[in-house]
Parts: sequence; C-alpha cells; structure tokens
Amino acid sequence: MNLAEYWNICTQVLWDETYIEGLEELFRKYKVTSILDVAGGTGFPSIQLSQKGWGVAYVDGSSEMVEFFQKRCKGLSLIIPTYHLSWQNLDRLPGKYDAVMCRGNSLIYSDSWGGDLNPARVLSHIKAALTAFHAKLKGGGILYVDITNRSEFEKPQPVTECIAGKKVEGKTVDITWTFSHDEERKVRKWLSNSTIGDKTCTFGSDSYLMTPDELRDLLIEVGFSVVQEIIVPGESVYTSFLARK
Ligand SMILES: C[S@@+](CC[C@H](N)C(=O)[O-])C[C@H]1O[C@@H](n2cnc3c(N)ncnc32)[C@H](O)[C@@H]1O
Repeated sequence: MNLAEYWNICTQVLWDETYIEGLEELFRKYKVTSILDVAGGTGFPSIQLSQKGWGVAYVDGSSEMVEFFQKRCKGLSLIIPTYHLSWQNLDRLPGKYDAVMCRGNSLIYSDSWGGDLNPARVLSHIKAALTAFHAKLKGGGILYVDITNRSEFEKPQPVTECIAGKKVEGKTVDITWTFSHDEERKVRKWLSNSTIGDKTCTFGSDSYLMTPDELRDLLIEVGFSVVQEIIVPGESVYTSFLARK
C-alpha cells in the first residue's frame, strides 16, 4: 500500500457526508461558484463536491497523489481540471477563483509530504504558498485552510489518537496516529500505525510545527483582510480558518 492509497482510506474513516454538506453550506454562504483545491490529494473532497455539481479544479504537487486521483476520476467518469503543480508554480495556472481550498492539514507539509522536511526553509515556503493562494482569488474571494487542531498543543507529548473498528471498502480499519512536537526545531512528527483488513502498515512524515494562532498571523501578514477561525460541521480533526481577499 502506498501513501495515496493509505490516505484515501484515512479520509473515509475521518470525514463523512456531514463534512461535505458543511463545506457546501460555507461555499453557498459566500456565493462561491469556482473552487481551486490546491492540495487535491486523493480527491477528497473535490470528487464529492464535483459530483454534487460544484465547479472544482484540482492542483497537487505529488505525482503519486495525482496518479491516484486521475485513476479515481476515470473510474467514476468524472472530468475535473487537473494540474500537477507545486504551490511554488501556482502562478502558471490561468484564471482566478471564488474560493481556494487547502485542507487536510496540507499547508504544514508544504515541502515534505511523502519526503523530507527542511526546517530552515519551510516557513518561507509556507508564506510564499499563502501569497500564491491569495493571488489565485478574485476580489472578495475566500481561502478555506486548516491546520493542526488547537487541542493538540494543550496535551502532554506525544499525543496518541486511535480510531478503531470502522469499515472501509469492506475492510475493518484501525488507525493509531502519534504526534510529537519538537518546539526548538519547529518540527511536528506524525507516525501512523494502522491495520486495514489483515494487513498492517506504517507511515510517517515530518512537517512544520505551526499553531492556529501562528497561521492566523501569517494570513493577515500576506494580505487577507478578514481572518476567522470557523467551525465546519463534520470537521473535528483540524482547526479551520476562513480568510477573505
Ligand atoms: C495531507 S494531504 C491532504 C489531501 C487532501 N486535501 C485531503 O484533505 O485529503 C496533503 C496534500 O498536499 C499536497 N501538497 C503539499 N505540499 C504541496 C505543495 N508545495 N504543492 C502542491 N501540493 C502540495 C500533497 O502532495 C498532498 O497531496
């Protein structure tokens, strides 16, 4: 099992239709008709939104994730504009959107999803990414972005989360995630041990250690006018923000 296949299982364990409806409500509230999912991943929630008639375009920098997504779209006979691009090159993409979405705690993996983290340069890349997201929005457009849950910073380290017994694609899934924070190096370590049916798998990735308050400050710094922490029904894993251009 590769990381894309594994993350696809995780999305089905962690979020359901309530969350998709919560996102739809948000997009309706801000009269959104065009959405750019800049961390498209395995297609969650772009595929679900597209199936419900939303105009979504997909961006991701990982060939493994893009390939997985394109296979899913083919299987579902779904046509979603797809760009295999990293955020550093987002300006190559034509047009502007009513909403940019960067969910699934993707921002802090700016350089390191499925690879190595360079703590010295990641913060400047995150700032540049937020600036690029801002540039892809029409005036008055919204950025929906999430980050490590506030509660994780209040718990003793390391933090372990277990979800057991969910059925996905006919298999029983048990997930154990362990997070540890290295405050000095600003590194958050994610280690995942899971059982899917009769198979066990281990994944892990380092990311930049950023609190929700640090994200709020960065959003203001790069030029967003209104920045609000929001509750989206069905989202209990991450802390979500809405930032207006
Ligand atoms: C944790 S996954 C989340 C995927 C999806 N948004 C979700 O909610 O399931 C993070 C995704 O962000 C993408 N990503 C991270 N840094 C990126 C960058 N600099 N440019 C483009 N994509 C990036 C990764 O390739 C990965 O697919």
